[in-house]
Amino acid sequence: MSRQSVIRLEDYKPFSHPVSTVHLTFHLDPEATRVRAEIAFGVGTGDLRLDGVDLDLLSATIDGVPVTPICDEDGLTVAAADLPDGPFTWVAETRIDPARNTTLEGLYHRRDLFITQCEAEGFRRITYFPDRPDVMAVYTVRIEGDMPVLLSNGDLTGSGPGWAEWHDPWRKPSYLFALVAGDLRSVEDSFTTMSGRDVTLKIWVRDGDRGRCAYAMDALKRAMKWDEDTYGLEYDLDLFQIVAVDDFNAGAMENKGLNVFNSKYVLASPETATDADFDGVESVIAHEYFHNWTGNRITCRDWFQLSLKEGLTVFRDQCFSADMRSAPVKRIEDVLRLRAGQFREDAGPLAHPVRPESYVEINNFYTATVYEKGAELIRMLREIVGQDAYDAALKLYFERHDGQACTIEDWLSVFQDATGHDLSQFRRWYHQAGTPRLTVEDRFEEGETILTFRQTTPPTPGQPDKQPVPIPIRWGLLDDKGEVANGMFLLSEAEQEVRVKTAARTVPSVLRGFSAPVILEQKGQPGDAGVRLARDTDAFNRWEAGRTLALDVLAGDGDPAPWLDGVCAVLNDQTLDPALRALILSLPTQEGIAQEIALRDETVDPDLVHVRHQSLEEALTSRLGADAMRISRAIRPTGDYSPDGQAPGQRALANRLLSLAARRETDLAREALAQASNMTDRLAALAPLIRAGQAEAELAAFHAEWSGTDLVIDKWFAMQTSLAPAHEALDVAQRLQNHEDFTWTVPNRFRALVGGLISNTAAFHRADGAGYVWLADWLLKVDKRNPMLAARMSAAFETWRRYDEGRQKLILDQLERIASADGLSRDTGEMVGRMRA
Ligand code: PHE
Ligand code: ZN
Repeated sequence: MSRQSVIRLEDYKPFSHPVSTVHLTFHLDPEATRVRAEIAFGVGTGDLRLDGVDLDLLSATIDGVPVTPICDEDGLTVAAADLPDGPFTWVAETRIDPARNTTLEGLYHRRDLFITQCEAEGFRRITYFPDRPDVMAVYTVRIEGDMPVLLSNGDLTGSGPGWAEWHDPWRKPSYLFALVAGDLRSVEDSFTTMSGRDVTLKIWVRDGDRGRCAYAMDALKRAMKWDEDTYGLEYDLDLFQIVAVDDFNAGAMENKGLNVFNSKYVLASPETATDADFDGVESVIAHEYFHNWTGNRITCRDWFQLSLKEGLTVFRDQCFSADMRSAPVKRIEDVLRLRAGQFREDAGPLAHPVRPESYVEINNFYTATVYEKGAELIRMLREIVGQDAYDAALKLYFERHDGQACTIEDWLSVFQDATGHDLSQFRRWYHQAGTPRLTVEDRFEEGETILTFRQTTPPTPGQPDKQPVPIPIRWGLLDDKGEVANGMFLLSEAEQEVRVKTAARTVPSVLRGFSAPVILEQKGQPGDAGVRLARDTDAFNRWEAGRTLALDVLAGDGDPAPWLDGVCAVLNDQTLDPALRALILSLPTQEGIAQEIALRDETVDPDLVHVRHQSLEEALTSRLGADAMRISRAIRPTGDYSPDGQAPGQRALANRLLSLAARRETDLAREALAQASNMTDRLAALAPLIRAGQAEAELAAFHAEWSGTDLVIDKWFAMQTSLAPAHEALDVAQRLQNHEDFTWTVPNRFRALVGGLISNTAAFHRADGAGYVWLADWLLKVDKRNPMLAARMSAAFETWRRYDEGRQKLILDQLERIASADGLSRDTGEMVGRMRA
């Protein structure tokens, strides 16, 4: 069946006919929008094959002469014999039904708004087109519709009541096309670029939401300035617009000059958004803005190259956030995310290389591997060549490839040419899936500390044998006074040694700053991690040492004393950033513990993980005693809320300590809730009450207060399913799914409730399999409307091999049930197929 066919990188061929311009006219109507597309094709060879999905073709002409193409369910074909010899103009009229388009791809109509989402292959749901990123054209758009706001890419060239015309002078692929129409209000500002041009900035939101856009606007201006200062990259249109929408499958989309955002990453005020939400707004705003150069001006030749834009853009947004805030804290947060999403993916049946070689549905490859591991590869390149050479390489990249659709090879060639480094071995990082294991052993011999590094990468689906990859290892050596040496070593073979002259044995601190995305196993001496936690000069490795000590207890049966002693000393170190102290004082998540157990080739028992996690929390609570609340109260910031500077870190530490203290005395949480004046503190105070099953009145009051504020009600759902006691959480979820505010057709709401339950690992992995059946029911229901959403959520099952035979069978039963469902989407079908293989 054509719908299940595999697309392969090796089959890449350029498109048959060049395209120069596209003129689109939209007559907007929720149920019957008409689209007229006029496309100027140049001289080509062979048939003309255009992509098209769920379109009603009303008419088609070539140079004004009607043609009758052969249509099928993926597009249409005009035989070469029916095409003129020279350039020609194709005009087609199609009719589409945005109201019934529940996929949220292409043009869809929700709550009186027309919205487009074209990446990766949504444009083919709007009109017939060679819908692939290497076909670039200049677009002119006319929108007709009875709405106050009619937006598209580029600059506004004309408008009147019921119509608007837009022109985007920059050639772009179809996936960057955007249109938004409806009743929206804007917040306006401006930015003067480094060459002195004034750019108008507009953020479009619903009436009533304008008061929650200030942080997004501020983040946008800081991102624009940062890209000029750091990369010399200037914005290239006179207008930059962002639209916040409530119905969106992803986080945000970088359409040229008209970014469309999930409102979660735009709207923020102290009363409605947490510190983490403000962080999210800042980094997603920056991410989408940075795509203007890394993605839009230089785009991808085909979707196998997705990491070319995503890995680089994630790396850029990470560096931006690190510059805006504490760099070590940001690095720890990024690594937490990498391990939670990407290491997990790499260890299971969905493992794939940063540059995949085949896919069935490209939507399934917007993954942690392509994004987060992709960003790590750029970070390693910078580590290997150095900052100055990195800057020179990026300069050459923009000079050489501006306006082109490129490949990972183009990118690596630029790096080789600009820096003189031979990167042939580095390529393996893009082709080989799986997380390399790095071990380090140290010995002291005749006045030398000798570090022996070894690497192996485990087999992954379709890749049984792996080659060594180049691993940049930042290292240092510690003695009881401090650091005696440090450096960077590039491990390129399976085994290599580093020798350093030292007076006595030292404690190694390796992979500082997490200089490579590998799993490190240290074969040191018993007290080494304690030394690093107490006095490593590298903040990342202090945190990492705490994690190592905690995992010794949580994933094995180590003694909790070294961890307790170490983190309590850190807590009392006033010279340390409170944000860092909060991170060091936190335990790995239950998912993190399960990952570690699986890594040790042991079977994961989710109930035991839960018990161990709780008892270490309990042990820390006992150890701290009255200190927990004393320090919590002392460090909690007072005065006006600010999402920047020291305050978020202080709140994080205050709230971490509150969560410990409230284990014993829930009244402390009630007290904190009464005093809370921002959403960060409110949620932190509510959490212990929900965990204790004592939040009924508080949750009702919260709901009453925020009813109608969607993003806050999302939190209301998520906190209940994610924090409820494991044995009750599924019942809570089943009760909440009947709540009148639970609209499962809105992705944010669905992710809040269902994603919340999945993150409650002991609840989701209930031994009777009820969590699995429940999720499978949901996936089958959602798949019929929104395949992309169902397919993403299905990855909750990717870890099935970690568990006991009973749970494995229960999960496989559900995967099989999904696989055999009638009319299953290509998206979910591919995911389930890969997970069962
Ligand atoms: N390209 C978007 C980003 O990374 C993500 C996205 C993919 C959004 C597909 C929508 C659909 O910023
Ligand atoms: Zn992106």
